[in-house]
Amino acid sequence: NQAGSPETRGSVDLPYRPRRLRTSPIMRAHVRETHLHPSQLILPVFVREGAQEPRAISSMPGVVQHSMDSLKHAATEAVELGLGGFMIFGVPTTLDATGSGLVAEDGVLNQALRAVRAEVGDDILVMADLCLDEFTDHGHCGVLDDRGRVDNDATLALYAQAAVAQAEAGAHVLGPSGMMDGQVGVIRTALDEAGFIDTSVLAYSVKYASAFYGPFREAVDSSLTGDRKTYQMDPANRREAMRELELDLDEGADMVMVKPAMSYLDMVREVADHSPVPVSAYQISGEYSMIQAAAANGWIDRRAAIQESLLSIRRAGADTVLTYFATEAARWWREEN
Ligand code: PBG
Repeated sequence: NQAGSPETRGSVDLPYRPRRLRTSPIMRAHVRETHLHPSQLILPVFVREGAQEPRAISSMPGVVQHSMDSLKHAATEAVELGLGGFMIFGVPTTLDATGSGLVAEDGVLNQALRAVRAEVGDDILVMADLCLDEFTDHGHCGVLDDRGRVDNDATLALYAQAAVAQAEAGAHVLGPSGMMDGQVGVIRTALDEAGFIDTSVLAYSVKYASAFYGPFREAVDSSLTGDRKTYQMDPANRREAMRELELDLDEGADMVMVKPAMSYLDMVREVADHSPVPVSAYQISGEYSMIQAAAANGWIDRRAAIQESLLSIRRAGADTVLTYFATEAARWWREEN
C-alpha cells in the first residue's frame, strides 16, 4: 500500500479493532509475546552400546539410536546450532536386576557423557538421564523388593551412586526421571559430598504415567511389562503436582520439569506460576511421533505444526523445552532470524 493511503472505510463503527495488530508480518513480529530461541531447546538423544552405525527407531521416524561416533557428531551439530542442552539416554546391551550399567564407569551412558563432554566442553549443557529403567532387566525405574514392588529407598542409594558417576563423567546437568520419593535430595547430597557443587539437577517434578511414552519404550529397547503407575503421577491429578514441586524445591532442585507437555499445558502453566526456579517441559516421544505421522500423511503442515507446538509449550510457561525436533527448530530459527 501507498504511504498514507486509506485502506477501507469501515461500514461498522467499532471502538477498537484487534486486527490492526495483525495487518503485516512486521506488525505481528513487533507485538509477538512469546519467542522460541535455540538456547531454550534441549535435544534428547539415544546412544546404543556397541553400535557401529546409527540405527533407526521405527516408532520415531527421524530419531536414531546413535553409535558413539554419530553421537559426537550430533553433539557438535547441536553446538553449532546454539542449542541449550543435549540430554543423553543410554541403551545398554546387558541388563540386570539392579541396573548396574547405570553406575558403572564403563556403562554406555557414562562413556557417552565422557565422549560428548570431551567433544563439546562447555559450549552446550551436557545432560544425563538419571534413571534405572534402561538398565534393568525388568524395565522399572527402580530396583524391586522380594514381592516385585519398586523399592523406593533401595533405589535412592543407587541413584546417589549414579549421580556421582555421571558428574565424574562430565555431565553438567542430571535429570532424575524415575519419580522416586526423595530422589532430588539424595542426589544433591551425594553430589555435594563428592565435591560436585556446580553440577545441577533438573528435577522431573511433575511426571505423569502417560500412554504417550509408547514410542520411547522402543527407542530404549525397554523390557518393561506392566506400567509405572505406582511411581509416576495419575494424569487426573493437578493438586498433587504442587506437592511434588514443593518437595523437589525443598530438596534442592535447580530446575523443574513437567512431562509430557502437550496434554499437560495446564500443568506447565500451573507450575510456571508457582515455581521460583526455571521450568522445563518435555515434548515426549508420542507427541513427536503423532506430528510426524500426521505430517507424513499430508494431514498437517509439518514445519508450521512443529513450530506451533513448541511455541505453545513456551506460551504455557516453559522456559526451556526438551524436544526431538530441537535441531530442526534451531535451523528454522536461523533461517527466520
Ligand atoms: C524413564 C523415561 C521415560 C521417558 C524419559 N525417561 C519413559 C517412561 O517414563 O516410561 C520418556 C521420554 C519420551 O517418551 O520421549 N526413564
